[in-house]
Formats: sequence, structure tokens, C-alpha cells
Amino acid sequence: MQLSDKKATLSFSDGSAPIEFPVYQGSVGPDVIDIRKLYGQSGMFTYDPGFMSTAACESGITYIDGDKGQLLYRGYPIDQLAQNCDFLDICYLILNGDLPDGAQKTEFDSLVTNHTMVHEQMRIFMQGFRRDAHPMAVLTGLVGALSAFYHDSTDITNPHHRHVSAIRLIAKMPTLVAMAYKHSLGQPYIYPKNDLSYTGNFLHMMFATPCEDYKVNEVVERALDRIFILHADHEQNASTSTVRLCGSSGTNPFAAIAAGVGCLWGPAHGGANEACLQMLEELQANGGVAKVGEFMEKVKDKTSGVRLMGFGHRVYKNYDPRAKLMQETCKEVLSALGLENDPLFKLAMELERIALEDPYFVERKLYPNVDFYSGIVQRAIGIPTSLFTAIFALARTVGWIAQWSEMLSDPDYKIGRPRQLYTGSQVRDVPTQR
Ligand code: CMC
Repeated sequence: MQLSDKKATLSFSDGSAPIEFPVYQGSVGPDVIDIRKLYGQSGMFTYDPGFMSTAACESGITYIDGDKGQLLYRGYPIDQLAQNCDFLDICYLILNGDLPDGAQKTEFDSLVTNHTMVHEQMRIFMQGFRRDAHPMAVLTGLVGALSAFYHDSTDITNPHHRHVSAIRLIAKMPTLVAMAYKHSLGQPYIYPKNDLSYTGNFLHMMFATPCEDYKVNEVVERALDRIFILHADHEQNASTSTVRLCGSSGTNPFAAIAAGVGCLWGPAHGGANEACLQMLEELQANGGVAKVGEFMEKVKDKTSGVRLMGFGHRVYKNYDPRAKLMQETCKEVLSALGLENDPLFKLAMELERIALEDPYFVERKLYPNVDFYSGIVQRAIGIPTSLFTAIFALARTVGWIAQWSEMLSDPDYKIGRPRQLYTGSQVRDVPTQR
């Protein structure tokens, strides 16, 4: 963080003395006004619900330029990463700051591969969940439960312990997500297979059974790997901020990541991929492309409570670069699986075409986000809708844990403690007779 020559001055209309604040520059992107002394000097807080203008931390991991539609992991553009790397390269990059060389990659891949099994008692823990439990409910419980198994790596002040926890979480997440899926089917859990890639192993744990092996399809493996890459980190979004806030109390990493999983579940965040596919399926069942116009009228009518899921973003005011890559993958997967005429894909393309021309969306700068096409890809691969957000959580785990670790190594780190504008009752006495 570098001090700028600029300073910001806050003046008051009641004649109180103005207050001057330092301004810091990042390497790219907006400067920040350091208001940490505001309360001490003025007795006032700032008010910014939804963090519309607030940088809550300093970070060197991910950068988004929402106006340009640009996403960088450690400085590298997402499209170059998606085309030239696999997911474990991205995990290494996000955790360590640079891409691995050949030897580093071999070592890292083997480290993650050797942590994919979960404690056998996790199976017993699973039995407590109903068969129809939502996978995100199961995942929140399972990830939190990991903290009961790994007491040897929960000294959060020790960078080595933090790294071991990161590897464990990245390695075990696919196993847990696949277990949640198998539980819903009533099928036996499938153990990880170390000669497969990270993504190939996940597909194997999802779709193999003890009676029948699963042959990994390369196009499907590449597509899912790309989904993982595109979801790996996204700077200070709601779930990442949740992980940071939860972790700021000094809790163990598994508890902090479980909090992130819970936050991601919501339909305005990671749950949008599930909600988007449900929207497409409902629209298809109720007339399909012919009814798109009518549906769009509902979306624009604020009293209907209907939103075009997979559209809009707090930061992107241009095409989400992940959505472009996802649309490309969608076409590739549908063609490889002989599903070129998939009606949901056609419907999505038509919704996108209309939305990009409609003044409602144009004026509000609403573009497709990553979730608009990812559901169609996952459905084509055979992943059930209810598992989409769990797959997002699997991929985002590396971002969460890297951001958590970055926070703990920041000398300015403090427990997160927002303040409030209190508008409730003033002090009053409890009536003695009621
Ligand atoms: N459909 C219809 N109208 C919308 C939509 C949408 N999907 N998104 C935003 N708007 C309108 C909104 O009604 C508001 O209109 P007005 O100014 O007339 O009141 C305006 O656009 C600004 O919306 P906002 O809700 O104030 O924007 P936000 O930054 O608070 O919300 C969002 C961002 C992602 C929650 C929102 O765009 C949304 O609900 N989208 C649908 C859900 C979705 O796809 N979420 C996935 C986000 S990407 C994956 C991830 O990172 O989790």
C-alpha cells in the first residue's frame, strides 16, 4: 500500500473543524481514503450498507475491473489462465503468488492428491443427514466437521499450519461434494483414485460405482476443470468477506470456510447457478422461446419479484469475462456430447440476445454473469441442479483459504467489527407491573 500525494478533507456544515485523511494507492484500480481515525477525531462512523464504497482490506490476490470486464488472478488475465492452465496450476498461483514451474507443479499436484481421502468416521457423520438434504446443507456440516479431525494444523499463527490446512481443504472438498451426491442417491461412497487428475478424480468419485468403473471423458474433464478455474477466486465477494470476518476472530480455518459455504448458498451469490437453471427449465416447460418476451416483461416489472437469474453483478458493469469463457465451454461440451440442439441452451442464447438489446438491461449495465451458462454445462455433464452450488464451493475453496491466510499475515489485521447507526428505542425503564 503506497501513500499518495493526494489527501482527502472532510468538512462539516456546522462549523466543526475539517478533518484530513491520507489516501493510499494500489498497484491498479481505485485509490482508498484511510478513514480509520474518523471516529476518534469526529465521533462519527461512515455508513455504507452493502459495502458499496468500502474497501475492507488490502489484497494482492485478485483484481477485477468491472467497467472493462477484466478479471486477473495474481495479475494474469482469466482468459489466458483458462486456456493455458489446469485448476491445480491456478490453486498454486492463488496460494503462492506465481505459476508453478515443472518441478513445483509435480510436487504440488502430488501433495494435493495425497490428501484427498477423508477420515473414515466422516461416513458415520454422513448417516445423520436425510437422503433429501440439500448438498449445501450437507457440505456446510461436513466442512465444519473437518475441524474436529485435524487438530495438528490449526495454529493459525503458524504459516506452515495454514498451508497444510489449505492443502487439506482443496484436496478433500471434491471428496466431500461427491459424498454428498452419493448420499442423495443412496449409493456407496467412492474412494479417491490417485492416478487421476484432480478433476478426473472428482468425476470418478461422482459417477463410478463399486460395480462399474467410470471412464473419464476428456472434454467433460476439461469443461469441469474450466468451471473450477473460473470460480477459484473473485476478490472480496460476500462469501470471501464472510470467511475473512469469521476468520478474523481467530477461529480455525475449517470453521471459517464452513461460514463461507453457508454464505455462498444464497441465490444472489453462488446459489444463482441453481436458480438460473431452474428458471430456464420453468420457462422451457411454460412455452420456451415463444414466451421469452412475456417473461422479460415480468423481469422488468419490479412488483413481480422475478429477476433474470445469471444476469447482473455488483462489480461487473460490462460482460463478465467468465461468462464469455463459459459460453465457449458450453458450446464445446454440447457438441462433444451430441447435444447441439439442447433447448435450454437455445433459450439462454435467446434471453441473452433480447436482454443485451433491451433498454432496461442496457441502462442498468446488466450483462450475463458466470452463472448464466455454467448450469447448462453442468447439466450436460450429468451433475444434478442441486449440486451446482456445492461445485462452486469446491472451486472457491482455494480463494477463500488464500484470502484467509493473507488476512492473517497482514500486520494491520484486526478482528472485523462493523458499527451501526442505531435507530431503536432510547434508554427506558422496564415497567415494574405488566
Ligand atoms: N434481473 C432484473 N433486474 C436486475 C437484475 C436481474 N438479474 N439484476 C439487477 N437488476 C436491476 C435491479 O432491480 C436494480 O434496478 P433499479 O435500479 O431500477 O432498482 C438495478 O438492476 C441494480 O441492481 P441491484 O440489485 O441494486 O444491484 P446489486 O449490485 O445490489 O446486485 C446482483 C447484484 C448480482 C445481486 C443482482 O444483479 C442479481 O440479483 N442478479 C441475479 C442473481 C445472480 O445472477 N447472481 C450471481 C452473481 S455472479 C456469481 C457470484 O459471484 O456469486
